[in-house]
Amino acid sequence: MRTITLTLIFILTGLTAFAQEAESGSSFWRDPLGDPLFPFYLVTAFVFLTAFLVVIVAVYMLKVLNVFIRKAAEERAEKQGIQYVPQPSLWTKFWNSINAFKPAQEEKDILLDHNYDGIKELDNHLPPWWKWLLYGSIIWAGIYLVMYHVTDTLPLSGDEYQAEVELAQAQKAKFLASNPPAAIDESTLEYSADEAIIAKGRTVYVTNCASCHMPEGQGSIGPNLTDDYWLHGGSIKEIFAVIKNGVQEKGMIPWGPVLSPEQIRDVSYYIKSIKGTNPPNPKAPQGELYTEAAPVEADTVVQADTVKSSI
Ligand code: HEC
Repeated sequence: MRTITLTLIFILTGLTAFAQEAESGSSFWRDPLGDPLFPFYLVTAFVFLTAFLVVIVAVYMLKVLNVFIRKAAEERAEKQGIQYVPQPSLWTKFWNSINAFKPAQEEKDILLDHNYDGIKELDNHLPPWWKWLLYGSIIWAGIYLVMYHVTDTLPLSGDEYQAEVELAQAQKAKFLASNPPAAIDESTLEYSADEAIIAKGRTVYVTNCASCHMPEGQGSIGPNLTDDYWLHGGSIKEIFAVIKNGVQEKGMIPWGPVLSPEQIRDVSYYIKSIKGTNPPNPKAPQGELYTEAAPVEADTVVQADTVKSSI
């Protein structure tokens, strides 16, 4: 019982590992019916199953046939009044022929004439199965050489790898073409204090914006970007839009044609992140006071606090 349980556990762990490995790769395990090769697998499985059944039936038929042959031989022997000597079975004949055993009675024919302290040597031939393997591999080597190195009919593993890489790249290109990365624009942009993006935004800011808005955002030609007052709105969407489209008549360049959408997003994040940093010599507030809309979770937080204090 324990052995069976252990074997089961073993098989199951093996299967899960295999499934996990397969999950990351081929689409077959995720969606077998949708796999383009599914009909091929189905036909292959069917062919194997049929072959297996045919072999079983053939073996059974041979056994039945053997019984009839034996019966007939026995009857014949009885009629002729001689003793029935059973013939060796097909399997025994096959076994003997592939091994070419010398029966013990004939061993004297192949006995070599030397004798070391009573130890004698038989001059046995190599068993035929061993020779077939050798000849088979010689023939296979010839076919292999011609197919892989002379006519180049079949790809070597290096070429196979190359072909797979090319296929994967083609699939990737196809995938990217049908799923383009979401466009970055003012209609969908949301702010999050993502440090990597803010760091990139800082670089964009220092290079392009510091000349008018000053290195710390305190403002000079352009307005102070660290206070709560905004000429064109202080939400991330409005900041993105004003950077992209500019306010040409007031001296703010449209950055849309100069910077990529990602760069404009990065620098918008950066501007959001420097709010309230109170740099020295700030430019006087311009525009209207902007307050962030209350976060949606505020309610839940209050409730949680109430619950805590009531305990
Ligand atoms: C040539 C000077 C100049 C440069 C360079 C410049 N700005 Fe401006 N920026 C201005 C001016 C002037 C304004 C005010 C526009 C107005 O009065 O409507 C402004 C306004 C803004 C506003 C809106 C502020 C508000 O109160 O609504 C933002 C945001 C802004 N700039 C960001 C940037 C960013 C980001 C860069 C760099 C990519 C940049 N600016 C580069 C001059 C500049």
